[in-house]
Amino acid sequence: MGITGMIHIVTMVFSLIVLILSSSTVGYDYFQFTQQYQPAVCYFNPTPCKDPPDKLFTVHGLWPSNLNGPHPENCTNATVNSQRITNIQAQLKIIWPNVLDRTNHVGFWNKQWIKHGSCGNPPIMNDTHYFQTVINMYITQKQNVSGILSKAKIEPVGGKRPLVDIENAIRKSINNKKPKFKCQMKNKVTKLVEISLCSDGSLTQFINCPRPFLPGSPYLCPSDIEY
Ligand SMILES: *[C@@H]1O[C@H](CO)[C@@H](O)[C@H](O)[C@H]1NC(C)=O
Ligand SMILES: *[C@@H]1O[C@H](CO)[C@@H](O)[C@H](O)[C@H]1NC(C)=O
Ligand SMILES: *[C@@H]1O[C@H](CO)[C@@H](O)[C@H](O)[C@H]1NC(C)=O
Ligand SMILES: *[C@@H]1O[C@H](CO)[C@@H](O)[C@H](O)[C@H]1NC(C)=O
Repeated sequence: MGITGMIHIVTMVFSLIVLILSSSTVGYDYFQFTQQYQPAVCYFNPTPCKDPPDKLFTVHGLWPSNLNGPHPENCTNATVNSQRITNIQAQLKIIWPNVLDRTNHVGFWNKQWIKHGSCGNPPIMNDTHYFQTVINMYITQKQNVSGILSKAKIEPVGGKRPLVDIENAIRKSINNKKPKFKCQMKNKVTKLVEISLCSDGSLTQFINCPRPFLPGSPYLCPSDIEY
């Protein structure tokens, strides 16, 4: 083997090592921005919500996620520094309420940060940055699902409608990428509970949501849905 062959092999081995290291240090492939429909959340929760829900999709969380295997979770033990979020709390209460218990918003944000947000580094740098990123996505970047649907004249009147109408309205606002839907059933009533918008691992562009719920899953949505 000549010297160029040797260099070639060394380069290939080196590239492989870099690839393995980089894929194992960044522990996720994409982000799901999941919003929950408040009336459905309260309907399916085992204990009733303490306050009546609004007919709105509000934030459940921004979740670093993997294409295969389990999603990363609990990458810190450090709770949210609530002093550092005082100036954004008013906005967070509107877009990211604790629907089950509106006396404990901070507890909900804390849980989402520890379980999900802490695993999103980079591009999520710290707890305040996590919350600020979600505010930007929901408000500035207009990823408010209720707003997206309302713009397409789809209002929450509680009637049945084809899920594909909802999908198409959302696709229009996210570069024709596929959202992910989660439904649940109780007493023979199926409701749309969550809609996720997916972005790449650096939160720079929308992607088709991977890993849809498959036939057999209790979360699979039927073709007609109440909203
Ligand atoms: C992360 O923590 C939550 C709350 O303590 C727990 O329910 C969950 O199972 C943990 N996830 C993993 C992967 O350990
Ligand atoms: C969280 O605390 C537990 C128990 O003290 C420890 O085993 C674990 O490594 C910590 N996790 C992180 C991400 O710091
Ligand atoms: C959190 O991250 C943001 C964005 O990188 C940075 O501007 C800010 O100083 C950080 N805050 C703390 C307390 O580390
Ligand atoms: C989200 O959209 C809904 C429906 O248009 C609207 O009522 C709500 O105020 C919006 N939320 C924010 C924070 O912009």
